[in-house]
Amino acid sequence: MEMVILEDEQAVARRAADILESYVRPGATLGLATGSTPLGMYRDLIRRHRSSSLSFAGCRAFLLDEYVGLPSGHEQSYRETIRREFTREIDIADDQVLGPDGSAQDLWAAAQEYERAITDAGGVDIQVLGVGTDGHIGFNEPGSSLVSRTRLKTLHSQTVEDNARFFGSASEVPRHVLTQGLGTIVDAGHLLLLAIGPGKAQAVAALAEGPLSANCPASVLQWHPRATVVCDEAAAADLRHGEYYRAVLQAASARQLRRVAPEG
Ligand code: F6R
Repeated sequence: MEMVILEDEQAVARRAADILESYVRPGATLGLATGSTPLGMYRDLIRRHRSSSLSFAGCRAFLLDEYVGLPSGHEQSYRETIRREFTREIDIADDQVLGPDGSAQDLWAAAQEYERAITDAGGVDIQVLGVGTDGHIGFNEPGSSLVSRTRLKTLHSQTVEDNARFFGSASEVPRHVLTQGLGTIVDAGHLLLLAIGPGKAQAVAALAEGPLSANCPASVLQWHPRATVVCDEAAAADLRHGEYYRAVLQAASARQLRRVAPEG
């Protein structure tokens, strides 16, 4: 796992945008996350699209997850959120941005259909991830199978509380979601997890330095040959080997080895 600890939120957004941009080309398949964490990266990419020749034409995108039971077009649905925060501001075709259908009558069939769509697209080249305070990625809450595929999950009460800020109150947050499984997520070619702020410090330490365990679903990144964690100093505060990760990064950038030989 490559640990990239940077001074602040802006530096995280810039570095994450650099990494994502390196995958953007016609035919690329991008895995997008919603939530607050990647917003700075999306804004940076929109700025690059407007001011330079960065084009997303011919790219496809898959979302990690979707709330169950919100009507399509609901402003807090993840399909609508990603459209508003990112994809309508760039030149990716709207029908090339897919998410699991949380409004389907048959949610199991919708989950299987979503898996098929990802496979038919040839898989995801790079998957952007945030992490929940309880260690979830996508909405794979603690206890999720490490080999799970897209399916229905029930949100942890901690996640409901964390996400209440997007709704009027916790009681309005849907309790169920369709989410890519941990097995689906690790099939992506590169996992790029972002974490910002002191509220994520425990989760970052657990995913990077704790045991590989369903108790911290994000620890599945340890199993992936190409996983990059980009976080700010506050989110890195509980890491035991923070000094080592900083030294590796410094030495690599001094030797300009980052792109050639990232340390897995
Ligand atoms: C969102 C998602 C979630 C979030 C996580 C962190 O699509 O899959 O795993 O990444 O809940 O959310 P924020 O970034 O709002 O702290």
